[in-house]
Amino acid sequence: MTVLCYHHKGGVGKSTTAVHVALTLLDDGSVLVIDGDTQAHSCAFFGVPPAAAEDGPVAVPAAGALWVAHAENSRLRRLPKQVGADHVVVDLSADFERMARVATTLPPDLVLLCTKPHTGALRDLPAVVNALVRETTAEVRVVPIGVDPAEIDAALAAFPAGSYVVADPVSYVPDEAERSFEERRPVWDFPTCTALRAEYDALTDP
Ligand SMILES: Nc1ncnc2c1ncn2[C@@H]1O[C@H](COP(=O)(O)OP(=O)(O)O)[C@@H](O)[C@H]1O
Ligand SMILES: [Mg+2]
Repeated sequence: MTVLCYHHKGGVGKSTTAVHVALTLLDDGSVLVIDGDTQAHSCAFFGVPPAAAEDGPVAVPAAGALWVAHAENSRLRRLPKQVGADHVVVDLSADFERMARVATTLPPDLVLLCTKPHTGALRDLPAVVNALVRETTAEVRVVPIGVDPAEIDAALAAFPAGSYVVADPVSYVPDEAERSFEERRPVWDFPTCTALRAEYDALTDP
């Protein structure tokens, strides 16, 4: 499956969610993480220098059957085939046009709309859901990171039922999260990673 982590705000947990989803999907096959942000936080998490991953996927044996690529939109399409990845996780920058191009080039099965307590993250959800519904046929799943799911539903009250789904909330753990990228270890209680695992087990069930 192809999973796109997106919000048009920065700092809402896109990269954090992307690396956790990638680690979770590893239980169900090989995974390519495409880091589509100049900040290259997903590359950093897996210890891959972004420059090294510009030319194509770089294997991360310590993580398992996982590769990381740091890629511009035009080259996205061939990357999963290069390594024969079962799953692709795309960590996007906060940019509508880029999201639209990526969604066309590598159509996702699922969009994770990560929403941390953050100025504007909730307020802008309707605009983002609108854009996603326009640009992709994928399920739009809002991931509440330390946000009450009821707040998500309130922010999206104008949307018809079924236009989005709210995932089980995951915890907001500031100190752990800060160290997570530096120390290259998961922040949510992986390998249990309960909430995310429950979500993705269900999705990858044949
Ligand atoms: N569950 C969490 N709890 C606390 N802080 C978090 C959590 N997830 C992410 N963060 C922090 O929020 C900041 C932005 O997260 P990041 O995943 O890099 O967002 P984005 O990719 O959307 O810019 C980082 O400093 C990260 O450590
Ligand atoms: Mg990021």
